[in-house]
Amino acid sequence: MAIVSRIIGTGSHLPEKIITNDELSKKVDTSDEWITERTGIRERRVVKDGETTSILALQAAENALEAANITPADIDVIIVATTTPDNTFPSTATKVQAMLGMHHGYGFDIQAVCSGFIYALSVADGMIRSGQANRVLVIGAEVISRILDWTDRSTCVLFGDGAGAVVLAGFDDSDGDTSRVLSTHLHSDGRLREILHVDGGPGSTGTIGHLRMLGREVFRHAVNNLAAVAEEALAANNLTSSDIDWLVPHQANKRILDGTAKKLGLNDDQVVITVDRHANTSAASIPLALDEAVRDGRIEKGQIILMEAMGGGLTWGSALLRW
Ligand code: ACO
Repeated sequence: MAIVSRIIGTGSHLPEKIITNDELSKKVDTSDEWITERTGIRERRVVKDGETTSILALQAAENALEAANITPADIDVIIVATTTPDNTFPSTATKVQAMLGMHHGYGFDIQAVCSGFIYALSVADGMIRSGQANRVLVIGAEVISRILDWTDRSTCVLFGDGAGAVVLAGFDDSDGDTSRVLSTHLHSDGRLREILHVDGGPGSTGTIGHLRMLGREVFRHAVNNLAAVAEEALAANNLTSSDIDWLVPHQANKRILDGTAKKLGLNDDQVVITVDRHANTSAASIPLALDEAVRDGRIEKGQIILMEAMGGGLTWGSALLRW
């Protein structure tokens, strides 16, 4: 007998305010045609004054708890993956804990930028399998719009705000249900931090800073690293890419998604895509895409789901699940 972890509920939340490419082209020297052709992004959601990461996270968490048919009383741990916490400290997770009226257990944040949700899922899976926790609320939530340089057309067109969440729960694997997290694989290479970073922070400049990126360099590493970490996941489970039913990737750029899918030999209709409407929501993008595909019925019980992401650090990783 062994304990395995399963996703028992998903949820998500997007700010109401939409900014289209045409609207952006009135602020910076860009065009709908350039953005759509290079990235596949048509619009993004952006928070309004007073709307914070914890507020988006709370909504996504409540939707996931409802889907799982449980209450905050049933949760042991909250993990929030975010690059844009409400405050330098305390963690956004403890804030969400209080907002949920949860006065037991504990919460903490994980910082792995766009790979944050995969990192958080990996930590939660390990905690459950080791018996440290039984139900973990895993949230990816970001207000990346607040760390963008809105005068820099090479970055501001690429990102958006949002939140997604899952409830991960432990089960005895002798129950006959094969649904579970099959494996997670994490990587980072700090030598590559300069190609995607924020030029400020509480421990250096004392400012929040702005996101800076060498787009071409990031693109090159993304396609190579994502295909490699996908192959690593398949090999660890004695599977091949023909076993994959759905790729639920981090939504950075349609060209990166197409490149990764092609390297894995997957068809376009096996890839869950939200980048056209959400842009890159960093740690929130995978749980947002997952929730969409679960709720509209594309993802079905028994299917093999591959999630992968790469982000600043560089960090990258994958999670392979049988739904
Ligand atoms: N509108 C119009 N022109 C622009 C814009 C814009 N928004 N941004 C840049 N340009 C111009 C540049 O100034 C440059 O002009 P020049 O030739 O006169 O100097 C020209 O377009 C080409 O710029 P490149 O940066 O070479 O364009 P490229 O084809 O590489 O596309 C892009 C840029 C879309 C950023 C691409 O490199 C990319 O997608 N990289 C991956 C980055 C990414 O997804 N990061 C997300 C975080 S990491 C992750 O999540 C995986």
